[in-house]
Amino acid sequence: MIEEPHHTIPDRNLALELVRVTEAAALAAARMVGRGDKEGADQAAVDAMRLVLDRVSMDGVVVIGEGEKDEAPMLYNGESIGDGSPPQVDIAVDPLEGTRLTALGMPSAIAVIALAERGAMFDPGPCVYMEKLAGGPEISDLLDLERPLSETLQLIAKRKQIDIRDVMVVMLDRERHREKMHEVREAGARVRLITDGDVSAALLAVSDNSPVDLLWGIGGTPEGVISAAAIKCIGGQQLGRLWPRDDEERSAAVNAGYDLSKILDVEDLVKGDDVFFSATGVTDGDVMQGVRYQGGGSATTESLVMRARSGTVRRIVARHDRTKLRILTGGGSYG
Ligand code: FBP
Repeated sequence: MIEEPHHTIPDRNLALELVRVTEAAALAAARMVGRGDKEGADQAAVDAMRLVLDRVSMDGVVVIGEGEKDEAPMLYNGESIGDGSPPQVDIAVDPLEGTRLTALGMPSAIAVIALAERGAMFDPGPCVYMEKLAGGPEISDLLDLERPLSETLQLIAKRKQIDIRDVMVVMLDRERHREKMHEVREAGARVRLITDGDVSAALLAVSDNSPVDLLWGIGGTPEGVISAAAIKCIGGQQLGRLWPRDDEERSAAVNAGYDLSKILDVEDLVKGDDVFFSATGVTDGDVMQGVRYQGGGSATTESLVMRARSGTVRRIVARHDRTKLRILTGGGSYG
């Protein structure tokens, strides 16, 4: 008897629903670009994201959100989202990644969301920061947080068959990074400093044909989880190690059972293959174009939409009729 090939029907790609969520947040935040109001820009993005997210059929819990319930009225950690129907998912949101970038009209602000199976996402607990190292598939196996960065840069140059003087490391421009920045330059490599936005930077570091070879730096742990979700879809690797800011945070983390010496990889940060990710540009960046306005009340957005199980990465350009959207959302937040 000839066996029928086993076909599995592709299941629902939630990322295609999530793109509406990040588009809404980006459109709302874009109205605040260059107005010098970080909080106002963030609030606009949160309101719009929350409004559209509620329309997605799911049983979701915010694991990475805007903070604790008493400080964030919406999208707080632990908030239930969706209509309660399956699937049960963890949600990580950053309605506006790069509040200062937006307020100052600077590049690479994005609206971003990631979803994974319930219980799959790493809970940062009291750990605000994490040391991160991220790179594309070609150099994934060379990443090592224990080895001196200068040696890793040599290995990257060799693997990519380029001169070490051509290797580019992106890092946040922070005082705590001075020593490593010096080490990179001493090794002969180059540094691209960014004022904010290490999710965009991680996306850039793992993308094909990128001007950046590696991300290194101590940045937000929530952002590290969100970047891990993207890297599980796109390919590449990110390693992370929790980085307590002081003794109080260190004790709180240890008492809560966190192992501060553990090196976390993308699988530790977001487990499994049912991982969905969407990001929409707010301001122009290397990875995505920001919101652009056209005559007649329309605006365009560009988004990266992906799913780990299939490995499909979509770039979606959308044209929005802002007048119609305003009516649809009851005069709401699309600006
Ligand atoms: P916001 O969008 O919340 O302002 O954060 C942006 C960001 O630059 C992240 O990309 C990064 O992980 C984190 O802040 C770094 O934190 P800090 O500014 O405290 O060094």
